[in-house]
Amino acid sequence: MSYKKSILITGGAGFIGSHLVRLMVNKYPDYRIVNLDKLTYAGNLENLTDVEGESNYAFVKADICDRNAIEEVFTNYDITDVIHLAAESHVDRSIEGPMEFVMTNVVGTVNLLQIAKEHWTSKEHVFHHVSTDEVYGSLGAEGLFEETTAYDPRSPYSSSKASSDHFVMAFYHTYGLPIKMSNCSNNYGSHQFPEKLIPLMINNIVHKKPLPIYGKGDNIRDWLWVVDHASAIDRIFHEGRIGESYNVGGLNEWTNIELVKFLCKSMDEKLGREIGESEKLITFVKDRAGHDMRYAIDATKIEKELKWKPSVTFEEGLDKTVNWYLENTEWIEAVTSGAYKDYYEGMYQNR
Ligand code: NAD
Ligand code: TYD
Repeated sequence: MSYKKSILITGGAGFIGSHLVRLMVNKYPDYRIVNLDKLTYAGNLENLTDVEGESNYAFVKADICDRNAIEEVFTNYDITDVIHLAAESHVDRSIEGPMEFVMTNVVGTVNLLQIAKEHWTSKEHVFHHVSTDEVYGSLGAEGLFEETTAYDPRSPYSSSKASSDHFVMAFYHTYGLPIKMSNCSNNYGSHQFPEKLIPLMINNIVHKKPLPIYGKGDNIRDWLWVVDHASAIDRIFHEGRIGESYNVGGLNEWTNIELVKFLCKSMDEKLGREIGESEKLITFVKDRAGHDMRYAIDATKIEKELKWKPSVTFEEGLDKTVNWYLENTEWIEAVTSGAYKDYYEGMYQNR
């Protein structure tokens, strides 16, 4: 069969990537979706068992830094477009070891850009780079990140993502590569690796383990359901303007402590525990080094220009998320056995 587009999605076995692959495979049967992933600790093909048999889906295990492997994929699958999500994504890990973040997030991104530039001779292509609002730095009590906000990354993770964003824009301005970019706020939802705040807390509440809150818990994050992020990427990929970046978020700010208390209450109800029981597990621990105080997105551009908005409230999205983790105990057990135990002890034991 000849496909209308042959889209390379990098990092498709990860949290956000697997939601995007699922959406694209099911919504666009006339597209071929090629998921390329190195399957690091964060990549898991179990996230995609429902689409692996679809005829318009293919999986390739490869590192985005590997020039020969990427070349081969572009040639073998006649890649027309790229949606690039592969990355090292966890701030705490970037503090422990920044070099892996430079390799994948910066070198890997430039490798992909370079190969796309060499293969694509017309403008009928899109290279969509998926990035984060963390590139804008840390807000005080007031204000929102706009697309024009100056970059001010402060963690090794956000510095590597900011660098990759700059290279993406450089390939547009210098070589005319048809790029699009999105910078999204914190995601939550099913299949998220339990190193990130929400799945880590859900898992610890289930097992009645301490709930480690960094510092005073007054840092603020702006949370978006992952399915809504995937729908925003779909919209930008198809309808966004070449050379533009779009902020994605849902005006949904929570302090960490209020969010965890809300989660405790909701899970006490679901687990038939006395209300207040899980909250007693909250433990304040040593703060993260260079901990950004507040992230908050102004999503006016994507809302007005592309008519996108989130489909659920935070309460609805969190409810679906908690239900998924409670119903998928095998998934969580599989990802928290082995290396996760060492990671958890290293990060939290003497904190
Ligand atoms: P994740 O850590 O869950 O998944 C990353 C995926 O990339 C994994 O499947 C991993 O195996 C793969 N990968 C890592 N290194 C690779 C390499 N060298 N070659 C090929 N594959 C590799 O991350 P996520 O949370 O799904 O984030 C996806 C993207 O979205 C990232 O670019 C991230 O910066 C961005 N983002 C994430 C959030 C969030 O809240 N999670 C918010 C905004 C933007
Ligand atoms: P995280 O999910 O790591 O996302 P990011 O750092 O990229 O925003 O963390 C979200 C917030 O929760 C952040 O302010 C750090 C805080 N946090 C804790 O208090 N305890 C934890 O165990 C974790 C993982 C995060």
